[in-house]
This record gives sequence, structure tokens and C-alpha cells, in this order.
Amino acid sequence: MGTLSEAGGDRMANEESKNDMAGKFGSTENEEPSTKTSLIFSLHEEVGALARALHVFEKHGINLLHIESRLSRQNKTDHEFYVECDNSMGSVADAIKQLRQESKYIHILSRAHKSLDESVPWFPRKMRDLDQFANRVLSYGSELDSDHPGFRDVLYRKRRKEFADIAHQYRHNQPIPRVTYTEQEISTWATVFRELTQLYPKHACKEFNNIFPLLIDNCGYNETNIPQLEEVSQFLQDCSGFRLRPVAGLLSSRDFLAGLAFRVFHSTQYIRHHSVPMYTPEPDICHELLGHVPLFADPDFAEFSQEIGMASLGAPDEYITRLATLYWFTVEFGLCTENDERKAYGAGLLSSFGELQYCVSDKPSIMPFDPFRASIQPYPITSFQPTYFLAESFKDAKEKLRQYAMTIPRPFSVYYNPYTQSMEVIDGKEQIVNMVRTLRNDMDMVLDALRKTEIAPTKIA
Ligand SMILES: [Fe+2]
Repeated sequence: MGTLSEAGGDRMANEESKNDMAGKFGSTENEEPSTKTSLIFSLHEEVGALARALHVFEKHGINLLHIESRLSRQNKTDHEFYVECDNSMGSVADAIKQLRQESKYIHILSRAHKSLDESVPWFPRKMRDLDQFANRVLSYGSELDSDHPGFRDVLYRKRRKEFADIAHQYRHNQPIPRVTYTEQEISTWATVFRELTQLYPKHACKEFNNIFPLLIDNCGYNETNIPQLEEVSQFLQDCSGFRLRPVAGLLSSRDFLAGLAFRVFHSTQYIRHHSVPMYTPEPDICHELLGHVPLFADPDFAEFSQEIGMASLGAPDEYITRLATLYWFTVEFGLCTENDERKAYGAGLLSSFGELQYCVSDKPSIMPFDPFRASIQPYPITSFQPTYFLAESFKDAKEKLRQYAMTIPRPFSVYYNPYTQSMEVIDGKEQIVNMVRTLRNDMDMVLDALRKTEIAPTKIA
């Protein structure tokens, strides 16, 4: 799936009057777990005001852990309400933003996560938070431009709506609905499959060529069958923990990259129009299954993709644009070196018969992969790329990307916890101590393994 230009992020209130208000309800900054946000607010005296305020939390998917009311200390005729919100679900930032409009005043008591500062846009904390993206696609997948090959084909447009509806209704942890593809759709797939697979042995990187036979064996990749997203997603989860999720339309760059942070790839399920099988103006299932999927099964590439996603969480808007550009020059149009030869690893190349041959010719300009340079390089979206960036390896690209990510101005780090499928924000002593504890356990295991295998640590480094 491709991405669109950046949509604006959400912002939220600061911790006003924190010290003044802390303790009024028996809680202090130190006692407050950082997974909760505690608020006090007072409403205008109107019938139904409290119901409307509570609806704000419901609307933004927030679980309230505690609520109580008392007479206001500012004005004895007013009531104020104390609530504790669970930060792990929904968008507390959005809820507070809206609640401000309904309230006489609002105070944030708890030591809120830095991600709740006004300067930090909201980002998903749990994999299931990605469900929220289903309702904010920038365009629906059945809406076609007038120059789209299927624009005048009523049946094709109807079919596209069926796919868009599947994705729109999809929710986290559900199996991706199977699709029975028509003979015409399979024929389109067959043409693309036949042409591209001829080029892979010569022009695709070795990781791609190592994995492709496994997709033939395990996921039904062949000329006469369009593989099902669910089977492919299960395969990826076994290989690298990546998974697919159907998407109804274009997502903002911020949302699309946030999916990668959880090792979730938003994938289309429809196929291009049959009239021009070797051309598509947008990502389709040929692009996803042939271009993207093979490398998401590679652990190093999966880690690299996740790193781009994690760097995007809570990043300022201008850095989202840069990370989307970085994604473009790597995951979509990346080249790497193999025995002094140029090989393709980008999905935009591996799913394009013409550009896959062009990118390894002497026509384009080639630059060594440098995220600081690649992230600001302009690029065309409707023609072959005039410039590509050449990575030494995925490992090398990942290291460089990590260095780049450290320059993104964020007042916290993030750590992905695969056990809970959640993103932990590292912004205080408590979280750092927990991380060190985990690292210490891991180091103990490493030392134990070294003792048992009698491998000298220097050999591993
Ligand atoms: Fe793509």
C-alpha cells in the first residue's frame, strides 16, 4: 500500500496546576502510574452536561477507570468531576481537546505521558488501536479518478466497493475474509506473475529470491491462483511477526507508518483493471503480494521496516514527511549491493516489469544510502525514479536509520512489547528501570547460552 501526503496530528493540553491540584483526591504525582491520566473538570450547569462529557470519552474509545464528583473548591455552587482514564486505549489527547470546549475548566493531575503534551501528536499504543484508522481513510478504495483504467467499467467499480467494504469492516484479530477471485482477475494476476517472475532471479536481492519459493510452497503463489491475504499474513507472522491488514482506502503517512511500528502492513486486496495488466496507477494485490510480502518475511528487513514506523510515533509533522520519503526510497524503491552488483529490494521495483530493468541499468543516478540525504530527496510519483539510494545491506541501512531516528525531536523513546502488542513510552525513571531489568534478564540468558555452547563472546561480536 502506498501513502498519501501527511495529515495533521493531534495535540493536547499541558499539565496546568498539577502541583496545586495533586492530592485533592488522594493521589500524587509519584503514586500515579504513567499508564493512567487523571483529570478534574467542571461543566457548565446545563441539563445533560455530564452525559455529554462522558460521551466524549466513549467517542474516543477511552476506558474510564474511576469517576467521582464533589463540590468545586473554586466555586461552591459548582460541581467538579474527577476521572481516571486508561491511557492504553483510544486517544486521551483527542478527548481532552474536545472536553475543553465543554468545560468551565479542566486540570490534568497525573504525571501525564509526554505523548500527552500538546507538542506530541497522538499515536496508537496497542495494536488494536489500529482499528481507528479504518474510519479515517483519506479516500475510499472504490473512488476512481477519471483517468483510471477502470473508471468507465461499472462492474469493476462495483467490485472495488466490495473490497473496500471488507476492509472497512475489518477489526483487529479477525481472520482476513477470503475472496473468490473471478477468472478475469486470475488471468490479470497470471500475466503479471509470469512476466515478473522471469526477472527476479537476475534483478531481485538474494533475500527476496530465498523467500519466494517458500511462498510458492506455503501460500499458493502460482500463476493460476491469487493467494489469500489471511494465509500470507499467517506465513509472515511465523517468519518475522509481520502481519497484513486489509485497508479500505488511502491512509495518511502518519497512520500508515504507525502500522509498521506494530509490524502491521496495510494491504490492498483488489486487483488492477484487466485492460492494462502491466500498469496500475495505485497499489493493488499484485504490488503487495509480489513486491512487499517476500521481504517482510525476512527478519532484518522486517526490523528495518518497523524502525521506520517506530521513529514516526509522535514525531512532528515535518519529520513524518521525511520518514515517508525515507520509506519511499527504501521499502518502495530501495536498491542494495550484492557481489558488486545492484539488486532491487523495493516493492515498487519488484512489482514493475519496466522499472525493475531500468533501475539496474546505467540510466538512473545512484547514491549511497544516507537517511539524512534520502529523507529530503524530491521524487516523482508517476514516472520511473531518476535517483535511487543503494544500501550495503538491510543491517547497515537499519543502523543508519537508527542514528537518523535519534535526531527526531521527541521527548521520549518507544519500546515495542510483543507480548502485549503494545508500544511502551520510555519517558521516566520507572520505565527505564523496567527496561534495564529486562535487559539484565536477557544478558543472563546470553551468558548462560555462551557457557553452554562454549562460544567466546568476541566471536559473536
Ligand atoms: Fe507499496
